Amino acid sequence: MTELDDTFHSAALDADLRSALEAQGLRVGRVSDDDRPGTDRWLDAVARGFLDGERNDTHRQAFFDRTAYRRKIGVFDDSGPDAAVPVASFASWGAELSVPGGTVPACAISSVTVAPTHRRRGILRQVMAGELRTAAGLGYPLAILTVSESGIYGRFGFAPAAHAAHWKIDVRRARWTGPDAPGRIDFVTREEGRRLAPALHDRIRVTSPGEIDMPGGHWDRFYGTRPDVEKAEERRVVQYRSPEGEVDGLAIYSISHNHDDFAASTVEVIQLLAATDAAYAGLWRFFLSMDLIGTVTAGELSLDEPLWWMIADQRAATITTRDHQYLRILDVPAALAARRYDVTDTVAFEVTDPLGIASGVFVLSAGEDVGVDAVAEAPVGVPLVRLSVAELSALLLGGVSPVTLAKAGRLDADEPDRVARLFASTTTPRLSFWY
Ligand SMILES: CC(C)(COP(=O)(O)OP(=O)(O)OC[C@H]1O[C@@H](n2cnc3c(N)ncnc32)[C@H](O)[C@@H]1OP(=O)(O)O)[C@@H](O)C(=O)NCCC(=O)NCCS
Repeated sequence: MTELDDTFHSAALDADLRSALEAQGLRVGRVSDDDRPGTDRWLDAVARGFLDGERNDTHRQAFFDRTAYRRKIGVFDDSGPDAAVPVASFASWGAELSVPGGTVPACAISSVTVAPTHRRRGILRQVMAGELRTAAGLGYPLAILTVSESGIYGRFGFAPAAHAAHWKIDVRRARWTGPDAPGRIDFVTREEGRRLAPALHDRIRVTSPGEIDMPGGHWDRFYGTRPDVEKAEERRVVQYRSPEGEVDGLAIYSISHNHDDFAASTVEVIQLLAATDAAYAGLWRFFLSMDLIGTVTAGELSLDEPLWWMIADQRAATITTRDHQYLRILDVPAALAARRYDVTDTVAFEVTDPLGIASGVFVLSAGEDVGVDAVAEAPVGVPLVRLSVAELSALLLGGVSPVTLAKAGRLDADEPDRVARLFASTTTPRLSFWY
C-alpha cells in the first residue's frame, strides 16, 4: 500500500454525500476493517445485491480474512426491520494501473450494490459522486472498475478502455502452427501455483496496459486456496519452465466432461500467465493438444491474441468480445502525463465532466518528455479536441482510435488522424480478470 492508498483507505466520507443521504433518511458509514459483525452484514448486502444466496461462516471468514484492504462503505436505513444490513454497498482501494509505457495509481471500485427495495432513488449516484470526489481530492488521477452491466457508469464519466475477448476453440479444426517452445510443461500443485503466481503476474502486468495489480484475495480464489472456493479440487495447474529453469508461465484449468462423447470434453483455461513468447506458445500448445478434449475455452483475453496466428484454421476459434476495464479520469494532467506517446506533437483538449471533477482546457505536449498544462482557453494554432471525460478515458490506453470516436459522434476533433497517431499504442490493452 502506498501512502496515498493508506490515506484514502481511512479518509472521512464526503460531507455532501452524508447530507444528501441524510435528507433521504439514510445514514452512510465506513465499515471498519476489524468489525467482524459489521463486515458480515456488509457481505450479506453484497451477496444479495449480486443475486447470490446467503453467506455461511466459511464465506464470511474467508472474506473477512482477505478484504481489510478495501474501503467498505455502507448506506443504512435505520427505519427498516433489519437495519444492520446496509441497503447499499461500495468498496474501493488503491491499485496500480498499467498504461502505455508505465503505471499510474488508480482508485479501484467494486462491490457496488443498492438493495432492490431502495433502487432508483439516487443512492448510487450520491455514493459514487462522493467517493470520486474523495479519491480525486486526495490525488488519484483515475478511477477504474469492471461492470455487471454496460449501461450504468457512462453517466459518471467512465468508459470502457480495455475490451475482453472470449474464445471457444474447436480443437480438432484448429491445428497448431505456432512455434515449438524450448522449455517444458509440468504439473504443480495449486499451492505451488499460488506461490509462484504473484511474482510472475507482476512481471507481466506492468507491460500490459489495462492490467492492475491483483487485488488481495484474488490469487486464493483463482487457485482454490481459500476455503470458500467451490470445486477447488477440479482446478489443475501447469507451469512452463524455460531451458534455463525459470518459471515463465503458469496456467490454471478445469475440465467439463462431455457425457455423450468422453473424447470431446471441454477444457476451460481459467488463467494463463506467460511472461515470455515461448511460455505463451508452450502453454497454448499444451491446451490445444490434450487428449480427450474437443473444445478449449478461455475468457478475458486480448482483442489481439497471438494465438489467432498460431492455428491453421482461424475459423476454429469463435471469438466474442465485451467491454471490460472501465476508466474514469479524475485529474486530466496527471492521467495524460502518466503514459508514453510514440510521436512528438501538441494537442489541446476541452473536457467536460458530468460530475464537474475534471473539466477544463488542457494542452498536451508529447514527445521524449510529456507536459500537460491546464489553460484558460485553447491556444491558437494547436489542434483542439472537444470531448467529455468519458471519451478521454476511453482513449487513454490506446484501445480505441479518436478517429473511431469522432466518426461515432462521441468527440469533435480538428484533426482526428493526428490525435489518433498520438494516442496509438503498440500493445492492445487488456485486463485478464474481474475485480
Ligand atoms: C446498479 C445499481 C447499483 C444502481 O443503484 P441505484 O441506486 O438504483 O442507482 P441510482 O438511483 O443512483 O441511479 C443513478 C442513475 O443511473 C441509472 N441507472 C441505475 N442503474 C442502472 C442500470 N442498471 N442500467 C441503466 N441505468 C441505470 C438511473 O436510471 C439513474 O439515471 P439518471 O440519473 O439519468 O436518472 C443497482 O441497480 C444494483 O445494485 N444493481 C445490481 C447489482 C449491480 O449490478 N451492481 C453494479 C456492479 S458493477
